[in-house]
Amino acid sequence: MFGKKSTKPQIDKDQLELIENAQKRIKQKKRLYVHFVIFLIGAIFLIVANTVLGIGKDLTFFGKEWFLYAILIWLFLFVYHVFNVFITNKFMGKAWEQQQLEKLVAKQQNRIEKLKEGFLKEETLIAKTEAFKETNIKNSNLTIIVAAAENNAIGKGNQLIWHLSDDLKRFKALTSEHHIIMGRKTFESFPKPLPNRTHVVITRQTNYNAPSGVIVVNNLKDAIDAAKTDKQPFIIGGGEIYKQALTFASKIELTRVHHNFEADTFFPEIDETIWKETANIFHTKDADHDYEFSFITYERK
Ligand SMILES: NC(=O)c1ccc[n+]([C@@H]2O[C@H](COP(=O)([O-])OP(=O)(O)OC[C@H]3O[C@@H](n4cnc5c(N)ncnc54)[C@H](OP(=O)(O)O)[C@@H]3O)[C@@H](O)[C@H]2O)c1
Repeated sequence: MFGKKSTKPQIDKDQLELIENAQKRIKQKKRLYVHFVIFLIGAIFLIVANTVLGIGKDLTFFGKEWFLYAILIWLFLFVYHVFNVFITNKFMGKAWEQQQLEKLVAKQQNRIEKLKEGFLKEETLIAKTEAFKETNIKNSNLTIIVAAAENNAIGKGNQLIWHLSDDLKRFKALTSEHHIIMGRKTFESFPKPLPNRTHVVITRQTNYNAPSGVIVVNNLKDAIDAAKTDKQPFIIGGGEIYKQALTFASKIELTRVHHNFEADTFFPEIDETIWKETANIFHTKDADHDYEFSFITYERK
């Protein structure tokens, strides 16, 4: 029942191609060899015909017998045959043509893939710009303000990771007298609301209790709307809100802390096809600052 299956030797396509190619080459070389022999016999025959049998004995060109020219022409044809077999057929035969074709097709496919990638990027850029324009009607000056490490870390355990007094001073100077829009978690990371600023807190909770003066909204668009009288409202974090607000902001005030930190909250990668750096001020490490950092401004292109 489970007798042995007879196994036929199998030749795959590539092997078959190699064999066919080898056979073709042998035939070409055989033909060349036959040509060589015929050429030798032919040349002897021409010499004998002229010198022994006296055929065309008086026929000369430029003082030389005709058979010399006939042998030379034949020799030229033979050399051409040799060239064909060893040069043209070897490098420019069907296999070579196929190889060139495959290379060309691969190159074209590569180009098509690159074009596709380019289109995709362009489409994403257009979509983001359109989304920005849509909200931009409501507020043209929305600025994200953030301090992020080299690895984009911004917070851990609902706290900031570093203390940089000059950065806090700058934050205060820029945001004072303005609306500051934030996620519920960032709001709760403050011991109390920050003075001289209007807090707009985003939460999904419908009955969120906040101190008086704090505006509570249930989505980002309502937050931007709540700040529409402000010519310079700020998005101040955290991670979740930055991610959503990046599409709507026209400026980023980034404090880049030149160090990597372990964190649980990160700022999204800044896409330099959308944002261009317009200012960069370096701050050294000193007695009050444990890390070097830079104040970098990005504006939407
Ligand atoms: N380095 C910096 O510059 C900087 C600045 C700010 C904050 N941080 C840090 O960032 C961390 C906090 O960031 P996080 O991402 O955890 O929280 P977050 O963005 O501050 O707040 C998240 C909360 O916002 C609400 N929310 C988010 N998207 C919403 C939407 N579409 N509609 C309605 N409500 C929405 C939800 O509140 P509910 O859960 O109440 O619904 C959500 O839990 C902390 O570590 C903080 O220290 C760093």
